[in-house]
Amino acid sequence: MTAMRQVFIRPPEESLQDALGQQPHQAPIDIALARSQHRLLAAGLAAAGCAVHQLPAAAGHPDACFVQDIALLLPGLALLARPAEPSRQAEVALFRPFLPPELAVTAIEAPATLEWGDVLRLGDTFYVGLSARSNEAGASQLAAAVQPLGLAVELLPVPRGLHLLSGLNSLGPAPAGDDRPVVVAWPDYAGLPLLAGCHVIVVPPEEAPAANCLALGDTVLVPAGYPRTAAQIWQRGFRVLSLPLSEFAKADGGVTCLCVLG
Ligand code: GLY
Repeated sequence: MTAMRQVFIRPPEESLQDALGQQPHQAPIDIALARSQHRLLAAGLAAAGCAVHQLPAAAGHPDACFVQDIALLLPGLALLARPAEPSRQAEVALFRPFLPPELAVTAIEAPATLEWGDVLRLGDTFYVGLSARSNEAGASQLAAAVQPLGLAVELLPVPRGLHLLSGLNSLGPAPAGDDRPVVVAWPDYAGLPLLAGCHVIVVPPEEAPAANCLALGDTVLVPAGYPRTAAQIWQRGFRVLSLPLSEFAKADGGVTCLCVLG
């Protein structure tokens, strides 16, 4: 029997209204709605067969619900980020007590910055997006940490968006498909040579936030409101769960940003 997938999430609290990434022209974040949307996320993760671990809300840490940026869990190894934004750096210490105790821990150290939202795994390679949040020194430290596990690191430019995973995610092989991973990509990334062995779903520009979606086996969690992308994922044979995440999107967050997978 396959073990349940462990997922760590942290509910938002009042300070989310001060989260990074909000634009002056958009409505303020509705905290009550964000809490409801987060509860639906938890339900969606459970429906996808995950064991959901709820971390306590982190008062005074506006972006702390975006846990994915902070921790990356591999077999035997937990990797902790060094966020570029000073307002997010304390989130690392907040997450550390919840790491599975059996894992060795490696933390990215200054002057490097690396947020896991900039790290895409395809096969045995981690592609590190060079963004405003993650630098080459961070990628080098990641390479040193994962080389003993037989994993490689390559660099990728991030032409726009907050993180690499804002516009590029792998869903893994499709159910009943061949072994090639299905990736969901903004047009900016769709022609990359590294995707030559993948099935590429190109997200139409008007559905850009839909690229930030999360596969859990045969189920893909997709932000609600992007039917063209959802339909393409469904046509590949995945089960699609559409989740309303409008309040997190106001702070540049999507499904992947809210989840640390164990
Ligand atoms: N609002 C998420 C971030 O900017 O890190």
